[in-house]
Amino acid sequence: MSEQVLLSFEKSVRGRRSEVLPVLDVPAITLPKELQRETAPMLPELCEVDVSRHYAQLANRTHGVNNGFYPLGSCTMKYNPALHEIAAGLEGFTNVHPLAPKGDVQGCYDLMDELQTALCEITGMDAFTLQPAAGAHGEFTGMLCIKAYHESRGDTKRTKILVPDSAHGTNPASAVMAGYEIINVSSREDGCVDIEHLKTLLSDEIAGIMLTNPNTLGLFEKDILLISELIHGAGGLLYYDGANLNAILGVARPGDMGFDVTHLNLHKTFATPHGGGGPGSGPVGVKSALIPFLPKVASCGEAGKLQVKGFHGNFSVLVKALCYIKTLGSDDLRGVGEHAVLNANYLLHQMKAQGFTPAKDTICMHEFVLTLEELKERIGVSALDVAKSLIDHGIHPPTMYFPMIVHEALMFEPTETESMETLDQAALVMGEILREAQNDPEAMHHTPHNAVIGRPDEVKAARNPILRYQPERA
Ligand SMILES: Cc1ncc(COP(=O)(O)O)c(C=O)c1O
Repeated sequence: MSEQVLLSFEKSVRGRRSEVLPVLDVPAITLPKELQRETAPMLPELCEVDVSRHYAQLANRTHGVNNGFYPLGSCTMKYNPALHEIAAGLEGFTNVHPLAPKGDVQGCYDLMDELQTALCEITGMDAFTLQPAAGAHGEFTGMLCIKAYHESRGDTKRTKILVPDSAHGTNPASAVMAGYEIINVSSREDGCVDIEHLKTLLSDEIAGIMLTNPNTLGLFEKDILLISELIHGAGGLLYYDGANLNAILGVARPGDMGFDVTHLNLHKTFATPHGGGGPGSGPVGVKSALIPFLPKVASCGEAGKLQVKGFHGNFSVLVKALCYIKTLGSDDLRGVGEHAVLNANYLLHQMKAQGFTPAKDTICMHEFVLTLEELKERIGVSALDVAKSLIDHGIHPPTMYFPMIVHEALMFEPTETESMETLDQAALVMGEILREAQNDPEAMHHTPHNAVIGRPDEVKAARNPILRYQPERA
């Protein structure tokens, strides 16, 4: 497991080939001098079997939903049915060009229409754009829609967005990118928005609030209708971060709770793969008053001020999401939400039986947060140590240190696609880790023992990512 995998560039041997190009059946042309490269591109030169082994080696070192339990809270790492890949791979979808005349690609437009209609029905919104490429991109797009709405009314004093202290980091970041100032709203002891604090923040400078419901503690914001009334009463709008829609799918709708704008993470709730940084999809839905401010596909000839992604967004992801919605139908979509919540409560119960402490000891929605504060104080074993130990047991670590209002937080989201046996096994493993920690706390700081990379410098990796092969480093 720990032997080093060389980069494909490092395995390259000059002149080695794997491509088999068809015989040229069009006249050869020579590019004008100014379009020609001065040096040949630096590409790895490998034969087919080496390419195949290279990627198999990388895949073997990667933990995906297909390898084992992946309870990454807030990220909804559910199983992505193989059927989606077949649908997205159909020639009629893969062999089209975004600039093809509309009449020639009616199937693709029909598909997008059908998906938009389904998303409206699921969320209670009136219209959707499918352009944004991820959740955070959707948040940014939604914030621009809110800004354009206020500006169209000459309401330019509204420069502030309210964000609860439990919010995902992308929420304040997206609002700041759209030019807003962030005002933090405190959470109450029970983990929900502190209504009394919220009331003190309302003014004619508030453009809106960003909320996710269930919130990042996995708790339903029971006062959502009151929150909506207060924000609307102050002239603001409500933005719904749809990352947690999985919990209420088919049961409750953001549009009925008073939200005006929402993004959805198709790569979470609608079972399309997350990918290593993409492609994802974060469609944005709005209530009718905001429809004029949605992005348009200007590159396809539709006039519009705002376009946030080339053409129609990540089209193949849209195919997969519609496939998921149509395969399940409305009854089974509701079953997704119900089973996601049931699984989370079952796992929470089993974790408590193993000796773990929930951040909020109550019925949860689709995810829950444990706090390992007591363990850290007593024997110095942190949430990070426990999360890293899970890797040695074939389980992906849960989300760590989020939400930030919980000390030594581990956030578990089992999703609806896990069986009772998997959940039981995960709880037993966590219990085993707890006992190991109590017997030998020092050893816990060196876990995982069986991973290629155990404890990278995460700050350095985030701040200084090296994403391209740089020969001078070799
Ligand atoms: C609550 C919440 N909001 C927003 C996002 C951002 O979504 P994406 O990763 O698709 O940009 C996430 C993703 O982890 C999330 O958990």
